[in-house]
Amino acid sequence: MKIFDKNEITPEWLYMNRRQFLKTAATFGAGSILAACAPGLTPTPEEEAMIVGETTAGEDVLTPYESITNYNNYYEFSFSKERVAPLSKDFKTDPWQVEIYGLVNNPQTLSMADILSQFPQEERIYRLRCVEGWSMVIPWVGFSLSKLLDVVEPAPEAKYVRFETLADAKQMPGLQANFPWPYQEGLRLDEAQNKLATIVTGLYNKPLPPQDGAPIRLVVPWKYGFKSAKSLIKIELVAEQPDTFWNTSAPNEYGFYANVNPDVPHPRWFQDTERRIGELQRRPTLKFNGYEEEVGHLYEGMDLKTNY
Ligand code: MTE
Repeated sequence: MKIFDKNEITPEWLYMNRRQFLKTAATFGAGSILAACAPGLTPTPEEEAMIVGETTAGEDVLTPYESITNYNNYYEFSFSKERVAPLSKDFKTDPWQVEIYGLVNNPQTLSMADILSQFPQEERIYRLRCVEGWSMVIPWVGFSLSKLLDVVEPAPEAKYVRFETLADAKQMPGLQANFPWPYQEGLRLDEAQNKLATIVTGLYNKPLPPQDGAPIRLVVPWKYGFKSAKSLIKIELVAEQPDTFWNTSAPNEYGFYANVNPDVPHPRWFQDTERRIGELQRRPTLKFNGYEEEVGHLYEGMDLKTNY
């Protein structure tokens, strides 16, 4: 049973079917899928998600909320994935503003309330492939970055988008480490305008927790996870390719493009397989993380080995 297309944003009808299924399951008692996950009659959001992700072996299954929120890369808090959640639990995300400026006709400074009211939020289920060789399938909540870019109206000279994230030494113990803070990322403007490039405000139908980048982050599903910068405070439209945190830290290991690519090994390990969190066997890594149809055209004629 294939419940969602691995290449697609969850369509509205699917979302409705899922609700319908849950209603039926709750009314007539738990079916086999429900019984396997949870004996209760009223499914929790986590259980709902497991039902959505129920597929035949080898296909995409939603990663449980517990794993998504307890196995995190967020160096501003800690280098240890398991330490990020406890160290970030009191992270202050209110008030919060995002400044969108630079080579634009209509710069904006938006509060979270502005963002949530101006941009309709939708559920988007995407694979996240970390450059370290693990992956998850995450039901984000958010909207296309292109919608935000439409509002600020990029000027003709704007060729790239630079993302800057919060660096607050009072709250973030990891900032003591010698790295080029603040964490910065970048996309070419046409990449940023692709509908898959997403501004995320939640996951599993809940607000984003601190360890996953509260209150607002970027998600670029066809690129290695480090491009998906957490806790955004600035989005700047620029003319030149911006510096990025990992490219500055280790340029021979982490490129600006960072497209998921099984054919381009990292200097210290292969990238042709990955470990999906929750699975024992490794599975093949897909070019552009499986989103080639949507984004392949952005790289026509480019050598992806030199532009890694
Ligand atoms: N954003 C910031 N600000 N700081 C970070 O250390 N780590 C990146 C990315 N965004 C990181 C960040 C990396 S390496 C990955 S794999 C993803 O966040 C992990 O996102 P997750 O913890 O929500 O799975």
